Amino acid sequence: MYLDTVILAAGQGTRMRSEKPKILHRLAGKPLLTHVYDLARQLPNNRIHIIYGHGAERVRAELASLEAEWIEQAQQLGTGHAVLQAYDALRDVAWVLILYGDVPLLRSTTVERLLDAARQSSGLALLTVNVPQPTGYGRIVRDSEGAICRIVEEKDATPEEKRLSEINTGIMVARGDLLKNWLRRLDNRNAQGEYYLTDIVELAVADGHRVTSVQPAEISEVLGINDKVQLAELERLYQRQCAEALMRRGVTLRDPARFDLRGELVALGTDVEIDVDVILEGNIHLGDRVCIGAHCVIRDARLGDDVEILPHSVIEDAVVGHGCRIGPFARIRPGTDLGEHVHIGNFVEIKNATVAQSSKINHLSYVGDSIVGRHVNIGAGTITCNYDGANKHKTIIEDGAFIGSDTQLVAPVTVGKNATIGAGSTITRDAPPEQLTLSRVKQQSVPGWQRPKKQSSGEHS
Ligand code: UD1
Ligand code: CA
Repeated sequence: MYLDTVILAAGQGTRMRSEKPKILHRLAGKPLLTHVYDLARQLPNNRIHIIYGHGAERVRAELASLEAEWIEQAQQLGTGHAVLQAYDALRDVAWVLILYGDVPLLRSTTVERLLDAARQSSGLALLTVNVPQPTGYGRIVRDSEGAICRIVEEKDATPEEKRLSEINTGIMVARGDLLKNWLRRLDNRNAQGEYYLTDIVELAVADGHRVTSVQPAEISEVLGINDKVQLAELERLYQRQCAEALMRRGVTLRDPARFDLRGELVALGTDVEIDVDVILEGNIHLGDRVCIGAHCVIRDARLGDDVEILPHSVIEDAVVGHGCRIGPFARIRPGTDLGEHVHIGNFVEIKNATVAQSSKINHLSYVGDSIVGRHVNIGAGTITCNYDGANKHKTIIEDGAFIGSDTQLVAPVTVGKNATIGAGSTITRDAPPEQLTLSRVKQQSVPGWQRPKKQSSGEHS
Protein backbone atom coordinates (compact mmCIF):
# COMPACT_ATOMS: atom_id res chain seq x y z
CA MET A 1 0.00 0.00 0.00
CA TYR A 2 1.58 3.25 -1.16
CA LEU A 3 0.81 6.24 0.97
CA ASP A 4 1.00 9.99 0.39
CA THR A 5 0.53 11.92 3.59
CA VAL A 6 -0.47 15.55 3.29
CA ILE A 7 0.01 17.57 6.47
CA LEU A 8 -2.00 20.79 6.46
CA ALA A 9 0.05 23.41 8.23
CA ALA A 10 -0.37 26.70 6.40
CA GLY A 11 -2.86 28.33 8.74
CA GLN A 12 -2.00 31.41 10.71
CA GLY A 13 -3.21 30.51 14.17
CA THR A 14 -4.28 34.05 15.03
CA ARG A 15 -5.68 33.01 18.38
CA MET A 16 -2.26 31.96 19.64
CA ARG A 17 -1.55 35.72 19.78
CA SER A 18 2.04 35.12 18.89
CA GLU A 19 4.52 36.17 16.24
CA LYS A 20 5.55 32.54 16.05
CA PRO A 21 3.68 30.37 13.51
CA LYS A 22 1.30 28.08 15.37
CA ILE A 23 2.91 24.79 14.32
CA LEU A 24 6.24 25.86 15.82
CA HIS A 25 4.79 26.16 19.30
CA ARG A 26 5.99 23.29 21.42
CA LEU A 27 4.20 20.47 23.15
CA ALA A 28 6.43 18.38 25.42
CA GLY A 29 9.38 20.34 24.06
CA LYS A 30 8.69 19.42 20.43
CA PRO A 31 7.09 21.62 17.75
CA LEU A 32 3.47 20.69 17.06
CA LEU A 33 4.24 19.90 13.43
CA THR A 34 7.07 17.57 14.45
CA HIS A 35 4.62 15.49 16.51
CA VAL A 36 2.49 15.00 13.40
CA TYR A 37 5.54 14.40 11.21
CA ASP A 38 6.88 11.75 13.63
CA LEU A 39 3.56 9.95 13.46
CA ALA A 40 3.63 10.01 9.65
CA ARG A 41 7.17 8.67 9.69
CA GLN A 42 5.98 5.51 11.41
CA LEU A 43 3.81 4.57 8.44
CA PRO A 44 5.43 2.35 5.81
CA ASN A 45 5.81 3.30 2.12
CA ASN A 46 4.89 6.83 2.94
CA ARG A 47 5.79 10.08 1.23
CA ILE A 48 5.19 13.13 3.37
CA HIS A 49 4.05 16.44 1.91
CA ILE A 50 3.83 19.46 4.18
CA ILE A 51 1.59 22.34 3.12
CA TYR A 52 2.96 25.42 4.78
CA GLY A 53 2.32 29.12 4.39
CA HIS A 54 2.04 31.37 7.37
CA GLY A 55 5.52 32.28 8.65
CA ALA A 56 6.99 30.29 5.76
CA GLU A 57 10.62 31.31 6.16
CA ARG A 58 10.71 30.70 9.87
CA VAL A 59 8.95 27.35 9.52
CA ARG A 60 11.41 26.15 6.89
CA ALA A 61 14.40 27.35 8.90
CA GLU A 62 13.34 25.81 12.20
CA LEU A 63 12.09 22.54 10.76
CA ALA A 64 14.75 22.07 8.08
CA SER A 65 15.56 18.61 9.42
CA LEU A 66 12.15 17.14 8.56
CA GLU A 67 12.44 14.96 5.48
CA ALA A 68 9.39 15.88 3.50
CA GLU A 69 8.27 17.64 0.38
CA TRP A 70 7.55 21.21 1.42
CA ILE A 71 4.80 22.85 -0.59
CA GLU A 72 4.03 26.49 -0.03
CA GLN A 73 0.43 27.64 -0.03
CA ALA A 74 0.98 31.37 -0.47
CA GLN A 75 -2.63 32.30 0.21
CA GLN A 76 -4.77 30.24 2.56
CA LEU A 77 -7.99 29.77 0.65
CA GLY A 78 -9.28 26.75 2.54
CA THR A 79 -8.48 23.15 3.34
CA GLY A 80 -9.45 21.98 -0.18
CA HIS A 81 -7.18 24.60 -1.72
CA ALA A 82 -4.41 23.49 0.64
CA VAL A 83 -4.58 19.85 -0.51
CA LEU A 84 -4.82 21.04 -4.12
CA GLN A 85 -1.31 22.48 -3.75
CA ALA A 86 -0.03 18.91 -3.50
CA TYR A 87 -1.99 17.80 -6.57
CA ASP A 88 1.03 17.08 -8.78
CA ALA A 89 2.83 15.25 -6.00
CA LEU A 90 -0.01 12.84 -5.25
CA ARG A 91 0.23 9.43 -6.86
CA ASP A 92 -2.90 7.92 -8.44
CA VAL A 93 -2.02 4.50 -7.07
CA ALA A 94 -1.39 5.72 -3.53
CA TRP A 95 -3.79 6.29 -0.69
CA VAL A 96 -3.73 9.86 0.54
CA LEU A 97 -3.80 10.50 4.28
CA ILE A 98 -4.75 14.03 5.36
CA LEU A 99 -3.36 15.15 8.72
CA TYR A 100 -3.46 18.53 10.48
CA GLY A 101 -0.22 20.11 11.68
CA ASP A 102 -1.94 21.40 14.82
CA VAL A 103 -3.40 18.07 16.00
CA PRO A 104 -0.44 16.57 17.84
CA LEU A 105 -1.75 13.63 19.87
CA LEU A 106 -3.12 11.39 17.14
CA ARG A 107 -1.92 7.81 17.55
CA SER A 108 -0.58 5.51 14.89
CA THR A 109 -2.98 2.74 15.93
CA THR A 110 -5.92 5.00 15.07
CA VAL A 111 -4.36 5.97 11.74
CA GLU A 112 -3.82 2.30 10.94
CA ARG A 113 -7.49 1.55 11.64
CA LEU A 114 -8.46 4.45 9.37
CA LEU A 115 -6.18 3.15 6.61
CA ASP A 116 -7.71 -0.33 6.94
CA ALA A 117 -11.20 1.13 6.74
CA ALA A 118 -10.23 3.13 3.66
CA ARG A 119 -8.86 0.06 1.92
CA GLN A 120 -12.11 -1.79 2.55
CA SER A 121 -14.20 1.18 1.44
CA SER A 122 -14.72 2.29 -2.08
CA GLY A 123 -12.28 5.14 -1.74
CA LEU A 124 -12.88 7.46 1.22
CA ALA A 125 -12.74 7.03 5.00
CA LEU A 126 -13.20 9.77 7.58
CA LEU A 127 -12.07 9.98 11.17
CA THR A 128 -15.12 11.26 13.05
CA VAL A 129 -16.05 11.62 16.67
CA ASN A 130 -19.14 12.36 18.73
CA VAL A 131 -18.75 15.32 21.04
CA PRO A 132 -21.13 16.94 23.53
CA GLN A 133 -20.29 20.43 22.22
CA PRO A 134 -19.90 20.29 18.45
CA THR A 135 -19.96 24.07 17.94
CA GLY A 136 -17.36 25.23 15.43
CA TYR A 137 -16.80 21.88 13.76
CA GLY A 138 -18.02 20.46 10.49
CA ARG A 139 -20.93 18.05 11.14
CA ILE A 140 -21.28 14.61 9.62
CA VAL A 141 -24.65 14.36 7.89
CA ARG A 142 -25.97 10.82 7.52
CA ASP A 143 -29.07 9.52 5.76
CA SER A 144 -31.86 7.47 7.36
CA GLU A 145 -29.80 4.31 6.87
CA GLY A 146 -26.84 5.86 8.62
CA ALA A 147 -24.77 6.28 5.49
CA ILE A 148 -22.60 9.39 5.31
CA CYS A 149 -24.00 11.93 2.81
CA ARG A 150 -21.87 15.01 3.32
CA ILE A 151 -20.15 17.30 5.80
CA VAL A 152 -21.67 20.65 6.57
CA GLU A 153 -19.52 23.39 8.10
CA GLU A 154 -20.80 25.27 11.16
CA LYS A 155 -21.24 28.49 9.23
CA ASP A 156 -23.29 26.79 6.49
CA ALA A 157 -25.34 24.56 8.79
CA THR A 158 -29.07 24.80 9.41
CA PRO A 159 -30.21 24.91 13.05
CA GLU A 160 -31.17 21.25 12.71
CA GLU A 161 -27.74 20.30 11.34
CA LYS A 162 -26.08 22.24 14.14
CA ARG A 163 -27.65 19.79 16.57
CA LEU A 164 -25.70 16.90 15.05
CA SER A 165 -23.04 15.76 17.47
CA GLU A 166 -20.85 13.71 15.14
CA ILE A 167 -18.08 15.97 13.91
CA ASN A 168 -15.42 15.90 11.25
CA THR A 169 -11.94 15.71 12.77
CA GLY A 170 -10.47 16.72 9.41
CA ILE A 171 -8.35 13.58 9.28
CA MET A 172 -9.22 11.32 6.38
CA VAL A 173 -7.92 8.85 3.82
CA ALA A 174 -8.83 8.87 0.12
CA ARG A 175 -7.68 6.94 -2.94
CA GLY A 176 -5.27 9.14 -4.88
CA ASP A 177 -6.93 9.05 -8.30
CA LEU A 178 -10.40 9.68 -6.85
CA LEU A 179 -9.22 12.46 -4.56
CA LYS A 180 -7.57 14.28 -7.45
CA ASN A 181 -10.76 14.10 -9.43
CA TRP A 182 -12.80 15.48 -6.51
CA LEU A 183 -10.26 18.24 -5.82
CA ARG A 184 -10.61 19.49 -9.39
CA ARG A 185 -14.35 19.84 -8.87
CA LEU A 186 -14.27 21.88 -5.64
CA ASP A 187 -15.61 25.42 -5.60
CA ASN A 188 -15.82 28.16 -3.00
CA ARG A 189 -19.53 28.91 -3.10
CA ASN A 190 -20.18 28.77 0.65
CA ALA A 191 -20.53 31.02 3.68
CA GLN A 192 -16.77 31.50 4.03
CA GLY A 193 -15.84 31.73 0.35
CA GLU A 194 -13.29 28.95 0.91
CA TYR A 195 -12.43 25.77 -0.95
CA TYR A 196 -13.62 23.19 1.57
CA LEU A 197 -11.90 19.82 1.49
CA THR A 198 -15.00 18.51 3.22
CA ASP A 199 -17.00 18.98 0.01
CA ILE A 200 -15.29 15.91 -1.45
CA VAL A 201 -17.65 13.81 0.66
CA GLU A 202 -20.69 14.98 -1.24
CA LEU A 203 -18.84 14.48 -4.54
CA ALA A 204 -17.87 10.95 -3.55
CA VAL A 205 -21.45 10.09 -2.66
CA ALA A 206 -22.71 11.63 -5.91
CA ASP A 207 -20.22 9.41 -7.77
CA GLY A 208 -21.72 6.37 -6.07
CA HIS A 209 -19.03 5.74 -3.45
CA ARG A 210 -19.80 4.61 0.05
CA VAL A 211 -17.95 6.75 2.57
CA THR A 212 -16.88 4.98 5.75
CA SER A 213 -15.81 6.29 9.11
CA VAL A 214 -13.66 5.32 12.06
CA GLN A 215 -13.56 6.81 15.54
CA PRO A 216 -10.39 7.40 17.55
CA ALA A 217 -9.74 5.49 20.77
CA GLU A 218 -9.66 8.77 22.68
CA ILE A 219 -10.99 12.22 21.94
CA SER A 220 -7.67 13.82 22.86
CA GLU A 221 -6.18 12.26 19.74
CA VAL A 222 -8.15 14.56 17.48
CA LEU A 223 -8.07 17.77 19.49
CA GLY A 224 -6.50 20.66 17.64
CA ILE A 225 -4.66 23.56 19.21
CA ASN A 226 -5.95 27.04 18.51
CA ASP A 227 -4.84 29.02 21.55
CA LYS A 228 -2.52 28.88 24.53
CA VAL A 229 -5.23 27.47 26.77
CA GLN A 230 -5.66 24.45 24.50
CA LEU A 231 -1.89 24.13 24.19
CA ALA A 232 -1.59 23.88 27.96
CA GLU A 233 -4.50 21.45 28.19
CA LEU A 234 -3.01 19.10 25.62
CA GLU A 235 0.39 19.39 27.29
CA ARG A 236 -1.13 18.17 30.56
CA LEU A 237 -3.01 15.38 28.79
CA TYR A 238 0.16 14.28 27.05
CA GLN A 239 2.15 14.44 30.27
CA ARG A 240 -0.43 12.37 32.09
CA GLN A 241 -0.21 9.75 29.36
CA CYS A 242 3.60 9.74 29.60
CA ALA A 243 3.49 9.46 33.38
CA GLU A 244 1.02 6.58 33.23
CA ALA A 245 3.09 4.78 30.62
CA LEU A 246 6.18 5.13 32.80
CA MET A 247 4.42 3.89 35.91
CA ARG A 248 3.26 0.89 33.90
CA ARG A 249 6.91 0.31 33.02
CA GLY A 250 7.63 0.20 36.76
CA VAL A 251 8.77 3.73 37.55
CA THR A 252 7.70 5.12 40.93
CA LEU A 253 6.48 8.68 40.41
CA ARG A 254 5.82 10.45 43.70
CA ASP A 255 3.24 12.57 41.93
CA PRO A 256 2.43 11.84 38.28
CA ALA A 257 0.87 15.29 37.96
CA ARG A 258 4.21 16.86 38.79
CA PHE A 259 6.43 15.12 36.28
CA ASP A 260 7.31 16.25 32.76
CA LEU A 261 8.91 14.29 29.98
CA ARG A 262 10.04 16.42 27.06
CA GLY A 263 11.83 13.76 25.14
CA GLU A 264 12.28 10.05 25.45
CA LEU A 265 13.37 7.51 28.01
CA VAL A 266 15.59 5.54 25.68
CA ALA A 267 16.58 3.08 28.39
CA LEU A 268 14.91 2.47 31.71
CA GLY A 269 16.06 0.20 34.51
CA THR A 270 13.99 -1.31 37.30
CA ASP A 271 12.92 0.39 40.52
CA VAL A 272 13.55 3.92 39.33
CA GLU A 273 12.11 6.53 41.68
CA ILE A 274 11.32 10.09 40.73
CA ASP A 275 10.25 12.74 43.19
CA VAL A 276 8.03 15.73 42.39
CA ASP A 277 8.70 18.45 39.81
CA VAL A 278 11.31 16.61 37.82
CA ILE A 279 11.73 17.49 34.13
CA LEU A 280 13.40 15.00 31.80
CA GLU A 281 14.39 16.33 28.38
CA GLY A 282 15.92 14.90 25.23
CA ASN A 283 17.25 11.35 25.26
CA ILE A 284 17.50 9.94 28.74
CA HIS A 285 18.96 6.64 29.94
CA LEU A 286 18.23 5.58 33.51
CA GLY A 287 19.85 2.55 35.08
CA ASP A 288 18.42 0.32 37.80
CA ARG A 289 17.42 1.94 41.10
CA VAL A 290 18.13 5.48 39.91
CA CYS A 291 16.64 7.91 42.35
CA ILE A 292 15.93 11.50 41.29
CA GLY A 293 15.08 14.05 43.95
CA ALA A 294 12.60 16.88 43.73
CA HIS A 295 13.00 19.81 41.31
CA CYS A 296 15.68 18.39 39.04
CA VAL A 297 16.09 19.11 35.32
CA ILE A 298 17.91 16.41 33.40
CA ARG A 299 18.57 16.62 29.68
CA ASP A 300 20.31 14.21 27.30
CA ALA A 301 21.94 12.26 30.08
CA ARG A 302 22.89 8.70 30.88
CA LEU A 303 22.60 7.80 34.56
CA GLY A 304 24.07 4.44 35.62
CA ASP A 305 22.69 2.00 38.17
CA ASP A 306 22.15 3.25 41.73
CA VAL A 307 22.73 6.87 40.85
CA GLU A 308 21.21 9.28 43.31
CA ILE A 309 20.38 12.81 42.23
CA LEU A 310 19.48 15.02 45.18
CA PRO A 311 17.00 17.91 44.87
CA HIS A 312 17.48 21.00 42.71
CA SER A 313 20.18 19.62 40.46
CA VAL A 314 20.55 20.37 36.75
CA ILE A 315 22.26 17.86 34.50
CA GLU A 316 22.81 18.33 30.78
CA ASP A 317 24.57 16.23 28.17
CA ALA A 318 26.45 14.12 30.68
CA VAL A 319 27.28 10.56 31.64
CA VAL A 320 26.93 9.70 35.31
CA GLY A 321 28.51 6.44 36.39
CA HIS A 322 27.09 3.73 38.58
CA GLY A 323 26.60 4.70 42.22
CA CYS A 324 27.28 8.43 41.84
CA ARG A 325 25.64 10.90 44.20
CA ILE A 326 24.92 14.35 42.83
CA GLY A 327 23.56 17.42 44.56
CA PRO A 328 21.61 18.92 46.14
CA PHE A 329 22.00 22.08 44.05
CA ALA A 330 24.59 20.71 41.65
CA ARG A 331 25.03 21.73 38.04
CA ILE A 332 26.49 19.18 35.67
CA ARG A 333 27.09 20.77 32.29
CA PRO A 334 27.73 19.34 28.80
CA GLY A 335 30.70 17.10 28.26
CA THR A 336 30.84 15.79 31.81
CA ASP A 337 31.68 12.15 32.32
CA LEU A 338 31.60 10.89 35.89
CA GLY A 339 33.03 7.47 36.77
CA GLU A 340 31.61 5.15 39.41
CA HIS A 341 30.84 6.37 42.91
CA VAL A 342 31.74 9.99 42.30
CA HIS A 343 30.22 12.49 44.73
CA ILE A 344 29.32 15.96 43.53
CA GLY A 345 27.87 18.15 46.25
CA ASN A 346 26.05 21.42 46.70
CA PHE A 347 26.83 24.44 44.56
CA VAL A 348 29.32 22.56 42.46
CA GLU A 349 29.51 23.17 38.72
CA ILE A 350 31.21 20.66 36.44
CA LYS A 351 31.72 21.31 32.73
CA ASN A 352 33.49 19.34 30.02
CA ALA A 353 35.35 17.24 32.55
CA THR A 354 35.93 13.61 33.33
CA VAL A 355 36.03 12.68 36.96
CA ALA A 356 37.16 9.13 37.66
CA GLN A 357 35.96 6.59 40.17
CA SER A 358 35.40 7.52 43.82
CA SER A 359 36.47 11.14 43.59
CA LYS A 360 34.66 13.79 45.60
CA ILE A 361 33.90 17.41 44.84
CA ASN A 362 31.51 18.19 47.62
CA HIS A 363 31.13 21.93 48.08
CA LEU A 364 31.12 25.22 46.19
CA SER A 365 33.51 24.42 43.35
CA TYR A 366 33.91 24.93 39.62
CA VAL A 367 35.68 22.23 37.65
CA GLY A 368 35.82 22.84 33.91
CA ASP A 369 37.85 21.47 30.99
CA SER A 370 39.48 19.04 33.39
CA ILE A 371 40.58 15.47 33.79
CA VAL A 372 40.28 14.35 37.38
CA GLY A 373 41.69 10.96 38.37
CA ARG A 374 40.44 8.44 40.92
CA HIS A 375 40.12 8.95 44.64
CA VAL A 376 40.72 12.66 44.29
CA ASN A 377 39.33 14.97 46.95
CA ILE A 378 38.63 18.50 45.90
CA GLY A 379 38.06 20.84 48.82
CA ALA A 380 35.38 23.47 49.17
CA GLY A 381 35.66 26.52 46.97
CA THR A 382 38.16 25.12 44.50
CA ILE A 383 38.13 26.77 41.09
CA THR A 384 39.75 25.65 37.87
CA CYS A 385 40.67 28.89 36.12
CA ASN A 386 40.22 27.44 32.66
CA TYR A 387 39.73 30.64 30.70
CA ASP A 388 42.41 33.23 30.12
CA GLY A 389 40.03 35.68 28.51
CA ALA A 390 40.61 34.28 25.04
CA ASN A 391 41.23 30.53 25.22
CA LYS A 392 40.24 27.58 27.36
CA HIS A 393 42.94 25.44 28.95
CA LYS A 394 43.01 22.03 30.60
CA THR A 395 43.50 21.12 34.21
CA ILE A 396 44.73 17.63 35.04
CA ILE A 397 44.44 16.27 38.56
CA GLU A 398 45.95 12.84 38.93
CA ASP A 399 44.81 9.92 41.08
CA GLY A 400 44.77 10.38 44.82
CA ALA A 401 45.43 14.12 44.80
CA PHE A 402 44.03 16.24 47.62
CA ILE A 403 43.16 19.83 46.79
CA GLY A 404 42.81 22.06 49.86
CA SER A 405 39.86 24.39 50.15
CA ASP A 406 39.75 27.69 48.30
CA THR A 407 42.36 26.73 45.75
CA GLN A 408 42.63 28.23 42.29
CA LEU A 409 44.16 25.99 39.66
CA VAL A 410 45.26 28.25 36.83
CA ALA A 411 45.19 26.14 33.65
CA PRO A 412 47.00 24.73 31.86
CA VAL A 413 48.23 22.95 34.95
CA THR A 414 48.75 19.43 36.26
CA VAL A 415 48.52 18.28 39.85
CA GLY A 416 50.53 15.06 40.16
CA LYS A 417 49.53 11.75 41.66
CA ASN A 418 48.87 11.84 45.42
CA ALA A 419 49.91 15.50 45.56
CA THR A 420 48.47 17.71 48.27
CA ILE A 421 47.67 21.35 47.65
CA GLY A 422 47.52 23.56 50.72
CA ALA A 423 44.31 25.44 51.31
CA GLY A 424 44.03 28.89 49.79
CA SER A 425 46.67 28.33 47.11
CA THR A 426 46.82 29.80 43.65
CA ILE A 427 48.56 27.14 41.60
CA THR A 428 50.03 28.47 38.37
CA ARG A 429 52.67 25.79 37.68
CA ASP A 430 52.50 22.01 37.79
CA ALA A 431 52.44 20.53 41.29
CA PRO A 432 54.68 17.45 41.61
CA PRO A 433 53.31 14.08 42.69
CA GLU A 434 53.39 12.92 46.32
CA GLN A 435 54.36 16.38 47.66
CA LEU A 436 52.69 19.26 49.44
CA THR A 437 52.50 22.37 47.31
CA LEU A 438 51.20 25.67 48.58
CA SER A 439 51.39 29.18 47.33
CA ARG A 440 49.63 31.31 49.83
CA VAL A 441 51.23 34.27 51.61
CA LYS A 442 52.80 33.05 54.86
CA GLN A 443 50.75 33.81 57.93
CA GLN A 444 52.29 36.54 60.08
CA SER A 445 51.30 38.67 63.05
CA VAL A 446 52.19 42.38 63.16
CA PRO A 447 53.12 43.55 66.65
CA GLY A 448 51.64 46.89 67.72
CA TRP A 449 49.16 47.00 64.85
CA GLN A 450 45.89 48.73 65.74
CA ARG A 451 42.53 48.60 64.17
CA PRO A 452 41.65 52.00 62.62
CA LYS A 453 39.21 53.95 64.78
CA LYS A 454 36.03 55.51 63.50
CA GLN A 455 36.28 59.33 63.46
CA SER A 456 33.61 60.95 65.61
CA SER A 457 31.42 63.39 63.67
CA GLY A 458 31.92 66.25 66.18
CA GLU A 459 35.67 66.54 65.53
CA HIS A 460 37.05 68.60 62.68
CA SER A 461 40.41 67.92 61.17
C1 UD1 B 1 -11.83 22.15 9.49
C2 UD1 B 1 -12.92 21.36 8.76
C3 UD1 B 1 -14.04 21.01 9.74
C4 UD1 B 1 -13.46 20.23 10.91
C5 UD1 B 1 -12.33 21.01 11.55
C6 UD1 B 1 -11.65 20.17 12.58
C7 UD1 B 1 -12.96 22.14 6.44
C8 UD1 B 1 -13.62 23.03 5.47
N1 UD1 B 1 -13.44 22.17 7.69
O1 UD1 B 1 -12.42 23.35 9.91
O2 UD1 B 1 -15.01 20.23 9.09
O3 UD1 B 1 -14.49 19.97 11.85
O4 UD1 B 1 -11.34 21.37 10.58
O5 UD1 B 1 -10.73 20.95 13.29
O6 UD1 B 1 -12.04 21.43 6.10
N2 UD1 B 1 -5.17 24.97 6.55
C9 UD1 B 1 -4.24 25.19 5.55
N3 UD1 B 1 -4.56 26.03 4.53
C10 UD1 B 1 -5.77 26.64 4.43
C11 UD1 B 1 -6.71 26.40 5.45
C12 UD1 B 1 -6.39 25.56 6.50
O7 UD1 B 1 -3.14 24.66 5.59
O8 UD1 B 1 -5.98 27.37 3.46
C13 UD1 B 1 -4.82 24.06 7.65
C14 UD1 B 1 -4.76 24.75 9.00
O9 UD1 B 1 -3.45 25.21 9.26
C15 UD1 B 1 -5.19 23.65 9.95
C16 UD1 B 1 -6.13 22.81 9.11
O10 UD1 B 1 -5.85 23.11 7.77
O11 UD1 B 1 -4.11 22.85 10.34
C17 UD1 B 1 -7.59 23.09 9.42
O12 UD1 B 1 -7.85 24.44 9.19
P1 UD1 B 1 -8.86 25.25 10.10
O13 UD1 B 1 -8.96 26.61 9.58
O14 UD1 B 1 -8.53 25.03 11.51
O15 UD1 B 1 -10.21 24.47 9.73
P2 UD1 B 1 -11.62 24.67 10.37
O16 UD1 B 1 -12.26 25.82 9.71
O17 UD1 B 1 -11.48 24.68 11.84
CA1 CA C 1 -9.27 24.30 13.54
